[in-house]
Amino acid sequence: MSFNAERFISEKIEELRREIGGAKAFAATSGGVDSTVSAVLAHRAIGARLTVGFLDDGLMREGEPEAVVSRLRGMGLNAKLYDVREPFFRALKGLTDPEEKRKAFREAFYRTLSETARKEGAEYLVQGTIAADVLETKGGVKTQHNVLDQIGIPSFKEYGFKVLEPLVTLLKPEVRLVGERLGLPKDMYGRRPFPGPALALRVIGEITPERVETVRKATKIVEEGTQDLECFQAFAVLLNDRATGVVNGKRRYGEIVVIRAVDSKDALTASPTKMEWGRLEAIRDRILREIPSVIKVLYDLTPKPPSTIEYI
Ligand code: XMP
Repeated sequence: MSFNAERFISEKIEELRREIGGAKAFAATSGGVDSTVSAVLAHRAIGARLTVGFLDDGLMREGEPEAVVSRLRGMGLNAKLYDVREPFFRALKGLTDPEEKRKAFREAFYRTLSETARKEGAEYLVQGTIAADVLETKGGVKTQHNVLDQIGIPSFKEYGFKVLEPLVTLLKPEVRLVGERLGLPKDMYGRRPFPGPALALRVIGEITPERVETVRKATKIVEEGTQDLECFQAFAVLLNDRATGVVNGKRRYGEIVVIRAVDSKDALTASPTKMEWGRLEAIRDRILREIPSVIKVLYDLTPKPPSTIEYI
């Protein structure tokens, strides 16, 4: 049977209204498709009793926290920005193992989220977990930041909140359809996916504010250079290694940035985007010019599987 987005929307709004009752709820959003669609559903269900919170953990793209919050406010949502950079960098300090980093992020995320939501008087957390997140976490691929109860972490017992996940049965194409039928602007529901742990998934090795800044600049360049390109995701990654280069006749030991762009339908499998050489060269030139600490720029040719889309 094909997916009926209108029916899904009315059923979920009804369900959220019933579950939340007269209480308050808090929806954390990163401005991504999944968290925006679930926040809008919850807003339709309970209106002003929903606070939509953007937790600025210092790992987001340039200008994103302010832009997302002002956009959501413009749509009539009670959206707020919270500065939580310090606890996140503290939690991630010194960690290099990918799964340890993911778990530390998840822990910092739920601690800060539950503290923030409690201050807002909320009893429920609404989040945009989708089926692929649960499949990959349960399947042991990687610990997605927003999966708890499904892997035996009791959200209520651990964090004191009942977690509501209206999109947990859907895959990305269906979430986009729901976003469209909710009347969201196309650049919101059609947006390329961006993971909750954000640039933390794109810094190999230790996550420091300086290293995040490097990948943030490179991300902006890759995104601007691929704006008009049909692809599922396009981004930059900072490797945890250095390479020898030569600048003005002198040796320079510099950083290595990878350009990653993939085609995919549902993120469960993916293939590298066939990008024209000239486009890659233009991106490479901007990275080398605007981020002098980088000495090598690579293009990732690996499909998923065996690789995953992100790097950790
Ligand atoms: P991978 O790297 O597993 O990514 O091939 C599949 C899709 O999921 C996104 N991704 C995440 N999204 N929290 C999220 O919200 C996470 O922890 C997470 N890990 C990966 C990734 O960007 C891609 O779209």
